[in-house]
Amino acid sequence: MGTPAKEGAPITLEIDGFEVTVPEGTSVMRAAAIAGIKVPKLCASDNLEAFGSCRLCVVEIEGRRGTPASCTTPVAPGMVVRTQSEQVKKIRKGVMELYISDHPLDCLTCSANGDCELQDMAGVVGLRDQRFEAPEGGMRTHFATRDTSGQANPEYRPKDDSNPYFTYDPAKCIVCNRCVRACEEVQGTFALTIEGRGFDSRVSAGGAGDDFLSSDCVSCGACVQACPTATLQEKSVIELGTPTRSVITTCAYCGVGCSFKAE
Ligand code: FES
Repeated sequence: MGTPAKEGAPITLEIDGFEVTVPEGTSVMRAAAIAGIKVPKLCASDNLEAFGSCRLCVVEIEGRRGTPASCTTPVAPGMVVRTQSEQVKKIRKGVMELYISDHPLDCLTCSANGDCELQDMAGVVGLRDQRFEAPEGGMRTHFATRDTSGQANPEYRPKDDSNPYFTYDPAKCIVCNRCVRACEEVQGTFALTIEGRGFDSRVSAGGAGDDFLSSDCVSCGACVQACPTATLQEKSVIELGTPTRSVITTCAYCGVGCSFKAE
């Protein structure tokens, strides 16, 4: 959730009218959370370094131009932050509209239905309908097998089912980079990367067969746990449904010592 709270000089700031004191180096997003204020987010996660790519967590800071990402902005003494101004609400809704414009709207039949952060955030920003659609006669999305005239969609990205434990569905990816960072920061494997640019950017396992099985992936599951959508999902969840309970545990066989949630 942005830069972690560190041992540092206490900094007092105001967020949505509430005074909060946090250690120097803490992100505005984390300071807001400490004050009991939830800032919408997609690319930030409690156990990963801040990345600042999704722009959903933008806020207004008095005396500063623009709307910085709260997850990458450190607190400063006397800072006055607004997380719910009309301007930031409008920006967040616009960001979500762009995400949804290239996302399959199959929530009701999606295996992540009810356990999807993209779905949650669409609700948080008040998104009720789809404003942007594929251009007439064309195909902008990567999840449809055919374009609007019935021709095979050259942009279609098929699922990667090669890993025995999880699937990778690039059509549902929002390129938040959480899986790539989890692979690096949690597991230290560096098996994943983002390739391509802009609209064509996608997560790649970079194996000889361009799939997870032939890559350096060790099937630790850190990427699956980090994924906010149904892009990376355990096969057992797809087959059996979302778990109803969870246990925090530490692998006995691994030297890394990170805890993970077994469900
Ligand atoms: Fe801050 Fe994504 S959560 S930019």
